[in-house]
Amino acid sequence: MDINPAGRIMMNKIIVLFLFFVAVIVADGTLLSGEEAVQHHPSASGLEGRKDAQGPVHRADLARKEKRSFAAAVALGEKLWFDRTLGANGMSCNICHPDAAATHPETFPKFKSQMGAVVSAQQFINWCIVIPLQGKEFHLGSSELTALEAYMVSQNRGEALEPGYPSP
Ligand code: HEC
Repeated sequence: MDINPAGRIMMNKIIVLFLFFVAVIVADGTLLSGEEAVQHHPSASGLEGRKDAQGPVHRADLARKEKRSFAAAVALGEKLWFDRTLGANGMSCNICHPDAAATHPETFPKFKSQMGAVVSAQQFINWCIVIPLQGKEFHLGSSELTALEAYMVSQNRGEALEPGYPSP
């Protein structure tokens, strides 16, 4: 098909207009702050929205957000640790592991004979939810498991890493 000069100019204008809109949309995405970007671009890992969060402009905000978010996760974890309704038999983590005692998060990942495999701390927390608490396991990476892990690890802060070290 042969397009006459007027038609070609019209086509060029449409292409330029289209590219302008694409540029606006892309710029809008990259100018979002880390927090907004996470909400606008949710992904399983949450990493997508963090691409621009390491720039100098965001560093102070990011440090505050990291502290606040971690403290919130630990607080939720502590609440769940003492929660007797987490499972089905009225037990809580704290009955057998007062203040996260005898959980040895510094030794994970390691082989656990109950599961016959090398497992992560979250996987073994699920084992304790299902067997001693007679409850329902959480998805790995769920906010509940991550919170329990955050509380357990922060209670054991300072322990030297001993990955793979067998249970006492
Ligand atoms: C009825 C007692 C009981 C309750 C309640 C209980 N656990 Fe356990 N926990 C155990 C036993 C038994 C083991 C296994 C010890 C082993 O494998 O050597 C264990 C092991 C663990 C370990 C691994 C320790 C290691 O060094 O391998 C973690 C982590 C853990 N529990 C977390 C939890 C969490 C989180 C909860 C609450 C959701 C919980 N436990 C509730 C009895 C309990």
